[in-house]
Amino acid sequence: KLQPVILSGGSGTRLWPLSRERYPKQLLALSGDDTMLQATARRLEGFEGRAPVAAAPIVVCNEEYRFITAEQLQLCGHATDRVVLEPAGRNTAPALTLAALVAEGAGEDALLLVMPADHVIRDRVAFHQAIDIGLAAALEGAMVTFGIVPDRPETGYGYIRPGAAAGEGVLAVEAFVEKPDMDTAARYIAEGYLWNSGLFLLRASVWLKAIAHFAPEMAAACRSAYEAAKQDSDFVRVGREAFEVCPSDSIDYAVMEKLAAAPELGIPPRVVPLEAGWSDVGAWDALWTLAERDGDGNAVRGDVLLEDTRDSLVHASDRMVTCLGVDGLVVVETPDAVLVARRDRTQDVKKLVARLKAGS
Ligand code: GDD
Ligand code: MG
Repeated sequence: KLQPVILSGGSGTRLWPLSRERYPKQLLALSGDDTMLQATARRLEGFEGRAPVAAAPIVVCNEEYRFITAEQLQLCGHATDRVVLEPAGRNTAPALTLAALVAEGAGEDALLLVMPADHVIRDRVAFHQAIDIGLAAALEGAMVTFGIVPDRPETGYGYIRPGAAAGEGVLAVEAFVEKPDMDTAARYIAEGYLWNSGLFLLRASVWLKAIAHFAPEMAAACRSAYEAAKQDSDFVRVGREAFEVCPSDSIDYAVMEKLAAAPELGIPPRVVPLEAGWSDVGAWDALWTLAERDGDGNAVRGDVLLEDTRDSLVHASDRMVTCLGVDGLVVVETPDAVLVARRDRTQDVKKLVARLKAGS
């Protein structure tokens, strides 16, 4: 069975001021009517591949967002008895470990399809095809990643060096490097590396074996937290004390980077190329790229009036926003904060957020 696992724990600081600590980006409808979480939950609808899809996704999120998460899932027709609540964020490796333990607890060695809750994938059919291609390798015990052909040196992604063919449509992974510096990223692009999309396909038992090997303390902490878990109406509340002492690390650093150098473990890393209009919607410029734009290249939302304005994203939440004679701007209005930025600088919104948090 193909068991979707949705990681929904990030805060998306580069989409400030819409995305806030209290309202992270996956819970917002940033492109289209569905929120990003809903779009993720619906991403496997109509899957006709070689494995049936489990009815309820396992969603791992912070307990603070439990009600809104459950409500959004219900609104798009999903059961919510597999919403796993973390008392604190410990990054993606513990989140996936909890999901694998939930699958194991249900008595199945399910194939986990790990999906970040904050990505856009425009071509669902192509996405389904890539998943289907990865199924056979994952069934045989591989850890399957999905690789994107890069179009710029981006330091926020993982890089995959693809190797020889390892089955139909599947390549070996010779190396995996998470978040290289700019020079290294540029070199990797010249050398034909792929971006890691952040989607993974593997058996629950394979992940549990990998994490026990590479991060035994994390594996142990997650297991105690899971054993202390309480099913509370819809939610699986993991044990707070056990989880709070869990080390924090990502899937990429804790496991992916190390797998290629550990063939003795018997978990071959693999990559399936993915050409499905993938975007991780990291910042406002990515949203502008994805959005429907008018003849002047403007993407607007809400009560907006533009005159002689081009290639801009203008988002009004509460008040009317007007622009005159500007180019390439991002303007985001909310009741208590307004962002005005050059579109090519929106990666740096996180600097503003850091200063806000520091109170300067
Ligand atoms: N439940 C839970 N708990 N989810 C989390 C946590 C957590 O503590 N931390 C992050 N997440 C969720 C985020 O909401 C997001 O959906 C997903 O896990 C990935 O986390 P990010 O923090 O967004 O990772 P990243 O963007 O830095 O890097 C990953 O994605 C890139 C592609 O977008 C890596 O996999 C990179 O290798 C990859 O290129
Ligand atoms: Mg991300």
